[in-house]
Amino acid sequence: MSTNLLKGKKGIIFGALDENSIAWKTALKVHEEGGVFTLTNAPIAMRMGKINELAKSTNSQIIPADATLEDDLTNLIKKSQEILGGKLDFVLHSIGMSPNIRKGKPYGDMNYEWYLKTLDISALSFHKVLQTCEKLDALNEHASVIALSYIAAQRAYPDYTDMAQAKAMLESIARSYGQRYGRSKKVRVNTISQSPTKTTAGAGISGFDVFFDYAELMSPLGNASAEDCANYIVVMFSDFTRMVTMQNLMHDGGFSSSGITEELIARLSK
Ligand SMILES: NC(=O)c1ccc[n+]([C@@H]2O[C@H](COP(=O)([O-])OP(=O)(O)OC[C@H]3O[C@@H](n4cnc5c(N)ncnc54)[C@H](O)[C@@H]3O)[C@@H](O)[C@H]2O)c1
Repeated sequence: MSTNLLKGKKGIIFGALDENSIAWKTALKVHEEGGVFTLTNAPIAMRMGKINELAKSTNSQIIPADATLEDDLTNLIKKSQEILGGKLDFVLHSIGMSPNIRKGKPYGDMNYEWYLKTLDISALSFHKVLQTCEKLDALNEHASVIALSYIAAQRAYPDYTDMAQAKAMLESIARSYGQRYGRSKKVRVNTISQSPTKTTAGAGISGFDVFFDYAELMSPLGNASAEDCANYIVVMFSDFTRMVTMQNLMHDGGFSSSGITEELIARLSK
């Protein structure tokens, strides 16, 4: 049921790859709530062609951009303003990729060129998006910018390898840029730390099913789904959260505050 929470708001949604993507679910929800946006992804991801379905169902245009390239971002942000007719009110950065994880490299045998690529794609790109928006003065006052993080920024997970550093950096960029952009334009910048979610990026981590099940047992509310995350993002884009900035917001069913749960004790006692 729509409450038109985002009526009149314009933005950009990065990272919808297929119908499982958190960005995909968010685009559907933002559309339902009256927001308008452009969709973007890396040119290589467009080859799957899936994003065209999403564009059709949300009445939005697609502008390819590699989020690590400043020229692509400049083009994307300029064109988005032309298409949508003015400055933007929200941006979702839903981007993550580690070549080391993709190639199954253990943490003691990192390829450092790929390590830098992980940081560039999954964290530095967030700074590039913010800096390009600021230089183009593309965001309205009280605009809301969100990136997606994971609790491996604070805790060690054996198979999350260099993505753990990328997420720590991403959360740090949200604080530093949030401080700068808040002062100059009242723009808010936050990260949402999401439960394990069954998507292409999620399933790429080895042992994913085990830590998905573990997190489910450790979270009093269970794991937050991609749809739940989309709902939270809509609230963060809305005027109801105008004073929230520079935060890493836990969206994990209570996982991060649980020591152990009865469910896990029961499972381990078997
Ligand atoms: N799935 C999970 O368990 C989980 C949990 C917490 C946080 N997250 C984060 O959520 C975000 C979205 O991931 P998802 O789970 O929806 O998976 P996904 O695979 O659907 O999305 C990742 C997206 O990043 C895009 N991307 C990769 N390189 C890019 C580049 N150079 N330029 C632009 N886009 C690029 C991909 O094309 C893809 O659309 C990521 O930041 C991920 O780390 C995921």
